[in-house]
Amino acid sequence: MDAIDVGIRFKREAPALAEPSDPLVLRDWFVDDLPAVGVGAEAVTAEIVERLLPLCKNEAHPQFCGFGDTGDDPAALAAGIIAMFTQQNLINQRFDAPVATFIEIAVLRWLREALGYVNPQREDIQTVWNVGGLITTGGTMSNTIAMMLARENQAPGTMQSGVEDPERFSIIVPAGVGHYSVRAACTWIGTGAHIIQVPTIGFRYDQDELRKALAEHEGRIMSVVAYAGDSRTQTIDRLADVAQIVREADPRIWLHADACWGLPMAFSERLRPRLAGIEQFDSVTVDPHKVLAIPYSLSALLVREPESLRTVSTFSDLIMQEDFAFGQVTPFVGTKSWGSLKLWAMMRSHGRAGLGQIAERRVALAGRFAELVDAHPRLVRLHDPDMAAVAFCYLPPGIEDGTGDVEAVNTFNKALHSALLADRRWFLHTFTLPDDLGRIAPGATVQALRLVSINPHLTEQHLTDLLAHLDALALDLC
Ligand SMILES: Cc1ncc(COP(=O)(O)O)c(C=O)c1O
Repeated sequence: MDAIDVGIRFKREAPALAEPSDPLVLRDWFVDDLPAVGVGAEAVTAEIVERLLPLCKNEAHPQFCGFGDTGDDPAALAAGIIAMFTQQNLINQRFDAPVATFIEIAVLRWLREALGYVNPQREDIQTVWNVGGLITTGGTMSNTIAMMLARENQAPGTMQSGVEDPERFSIIVPAGVGHYSVRAACTWIGTGAHIIQVPTIGFRYDQDELRKALAEHEGRIMSVVAYAGDSRTQTIDRLADVAQIVREADPRIWLHADACWGLPMAFSERLRPRLAGIEQFDSVTVDPHKVLAIPYSLSALLVREPESLRTVSTFSDLIMQEDFAFGQVTPFVGTKSWGSLKLWAMMRSHGRAGLGQIAERRVALAGRFAELVDAHPRLVRLHDPDMAAVAFCYLPPGIEDGTGDVEAVNTFNKALHSALLADRRWFLHTFTLPDDLGRIAPGATVQALRLVSINPHLTEQHLTDLLAHLDALALDLC
């Protein structure tokens, strides 16, 4: 009971950013010897509260505006605690996870339906191979399994024979905005980093360039990856166009959509059209721990053809010899916790309408922030927001937008971000971004600041307060 109380107070009261500490000081405080005599559970819990929590960041704080991993949905938190106590193991069904397995199947079907995949009738679900999805530990794992599926699709039996002629396993990604996990996945699964980067316009594939790349590398492409929300600007690609272009060029290519950010749009009638075409992709990654306030960690990979998961299945006579054992279809994983209960509880507690409203509120708030950025004389917005992210630059004094003094802008924004971190009251993310819309200097790489409007406690007042805070910090830097 005390631990739950501590957890709730942490989420409500802990500051956005932890007390700043030198990593080497932290090392020397905490990397110590195991006590010869145990201190007992109560003392350990007190130590966690007193010594560790002040050194933790709190993403549930509304002034932590750089990401959206709040992990604070009440139903998900409650379910997560209960799931931990139950110690179910999704590797097997009958004795290890009798009901948990079917909760996992239910939630996977909800996700599939939201994305527009066709679900088999309930009575036709006879085995895990009729489900069409997997719960995984994160977007990186889901993308890795997607690349394995692409590999088996390109060269069936590679699971057994190993990779031959790696040149055949190239993948196409959008230049400058792709997430590193897809490239890493290809190196982990042995197909090598044969990555073809296609130029973008406005953070989406330049479709003529995509056609050209497909023609130039014909026969050697195992997958084309498109983003329903890239990692930096959360721009959604024109998924229906990408699917059509790829299918026309070569219908055997595995189409993978990374919808780590885009999933919530699927629940809103109004926003759903922005994902149009996603149901034509062979696989889709979603990341509820980023966008649905699910405590870490929880992602899912959904596949258009449920049976395609057979190509990466594992068999053993030790365990898993049963129809509904998820251990058979989940590469890299043996024992698996009941993480899906968190998502099941969250989705059930809000319902489809509530999930849609969550998405709409975030998009409206990002739109409002974009207006405030546009109205500010020294801020330049770097993209037209599709979802819950707004990336922008602060212009230093003496520099006007379009003047092309990228170095001065980048140096100033780096310094501004450092000042923000040192102050600790607000957190925005920073990264480099191709200036795809030429807002600072066409073709340049700019140092962007980014707000994410996912936190349910973030209000319009916070947005104006944040900009006032940035102005004060910027003034100090001049
Ligand atoms: C678009 C995209 N895909 C995949 C990932 C990886 O997700 P995870 O950190 O859950 O492994 C990220 C993480 O930021 C992402 O932005």
